[in-house]
Amino acid sequence: MAGNAISQSLERVAELCADPAPLVYARLFEAHPGMAALFVRDVSGAVRGHMLATAIDNLLDLTDDSPIAATLIQAERVNHENLGVPPDVFPAFFGAMADTFRDLLGAEWTPQIDAAWAALLERLTAAAAAA
Ligand code: HEM
Repeated sequence: MAGNAISQSLERVAELCADPAPLVYARLFEAHPGMAALFVRDVSGAVRGHMLATAIDNLLDLTDDSPIAATLIQAERVNHENLGVPPDVFPAFFGAMADTFRDLLGAEWTPQIDAAWAALLERLTAAAAAA
């Protein structure tokens, strides 16, 4: 049910916006301006696009209760610490996604979708923080 609300919101985002990546990264860099410099070599945006696609896969795996979802997210947190992403900033990417998708859906962002995303963000943050 919560997973359905997440999937539904993502399907609607895909219908409304061919490429939400620039909007998501604009949100992220607004909240964490220091992170933009990490992407200077990603001239084409391919890395950013792939990162967004992977993060969406990761969060869907978590809503599906995949046993490896949390481990994959933790592994990315560690990889990203080596790239220069502070561990406490890492989950902000998921928050930037939620904020962007809420804006895109407007009135279609229902209380059910909002509650599902709030619960998911808590799970993602907890998964990222685990040892
Ligand atoms: C504030 C949060 C984040 C920042 C600033 C960030 C930054 C970066 C940067 C700079 C790269 C490029 C690394 C390189 O040049 O080799 C990268 C790659 C990647 N990130 Fe993130 N990241 C964040 C959060 C996340 C999250 C939450 C996930 C998914 C759980 C994720 C998944 C990936 C993946 C899969 C790649 C490899 C993409 C590719 O090379 O095609 N990132 N990230």
